Amino acid sequence: MDTVMEEPNPTKTTLKLLVKQIRFEGKGINSYELVDPEGEDLPPFDAGAHIDIYVGDGLIRQYSLCNSPSDRKRYVIAVLRDETGRGGSKAVHDKIRVQDIVKISAPRNHFHLIPDAKKVILIAGGIGVTPLKAMAHELEASGIDFEMHYCAKEFAYAAFTAELEALRDRGKLRYHFDGGQPGAGLDIARLLSEPTPGTHVYYCGPGGFMNACANASTHWPAGTVHFEHFKAPARPISEKEASEAAGDFVVKIASSGQEIPVLRDQSIADALSAAGVTVETSCCAGLCATCKVRYLEGEVEHNDFILSDDEKTEYLTTCVSRATSKELVLDL
Ligand code: FES
Repeated sequence: MDTVMEEPNPTKTTLKLLVKQIRFEGKGINSYELVDPEGEDLPPFDAGAHIDIYVGDGLIRQYSLCNSPSDRKRYVIAVLRDETGRGGSKAVHDKIRVQDIVKISAPRNHFHLIPDAKKVILIAGGIGVTPLKAMAHELEASGIDFEMHYCAKEFAYAAFTAELEALRDRGKLRYHFDGGQPGAGLDIARLLSEPTPGTHVYYCGPGGFMNACANASTHWPAGTVHFEHFKAPARPISEKEASEAAGDFVVKIASSGQEIPVLRDQSIADALSAAGVTVETSCCAGLCATCKVRYLEGEVEHNDFILSDDEKTEYLTTCVSRATSKELVLDL
């Protein structure tokens, strides 16, 4: 296996894998099966994990692994071609071919299944099915009761339908096709109307779907609702950001005492980089936590979509976080 250890940090391990198969999975959706060129086992992953894929021209994109974590011989991702996106999905569709060798990161996971759930409800919106499909495989293997709801415009837009057929036949999976009218699909508020002790909810999908799930689950107990954005949602400008807090501030490197100004239109990651302090970044949108750094002093406006409330007391994401104090001390 061609594994390049750039640093002794598993999140920075890169792999060079062979594209064994590309399959059409649904309208605009291809899946990519990646294997070790020598047929070796791949590093293990848990359901909910994603990889970075390096698609050339400096583009790095994150895609969830959607095959069963028990399958050590391959990673499978599914990519929806987004004509209005930032170019990552188009590059994957246009450039990656069967027999190519692609560089990826080792799997990382910010969307874990809770091991002691009595029951799990998986709600997928469109291409958001990818991490939830891996979860369905893992739940099947562990024997935990679950039900999966897959929302899409119509059957032609649903991915992995052949592979998911067995789940549907056993009553574990229900499709909800809305014909492009969100109100005509799954009644998420009704589905989540009554929290049941020991039940956990996981959802992933596009912005409107995420809002609907969030609004429908506000009364669920803390720690029972889990979600992952695959695209940074539109974020209203906070009052703090609108005030002096969004302006210039200084980050101080704890180990060296170096003070680095961060300008109003500059990210902390960019300011660090310009000053010669490298922090690895990937999504640059607060989605992947690649750029996560511990902070020791200062007030933070987090702006990410990945860190838990607990993590936010200790860490920030340097791609999107801002200081609401004049100085932030980083544990670098
Ligand atoms: S680079 Fe992805 S969260 Fe900062």
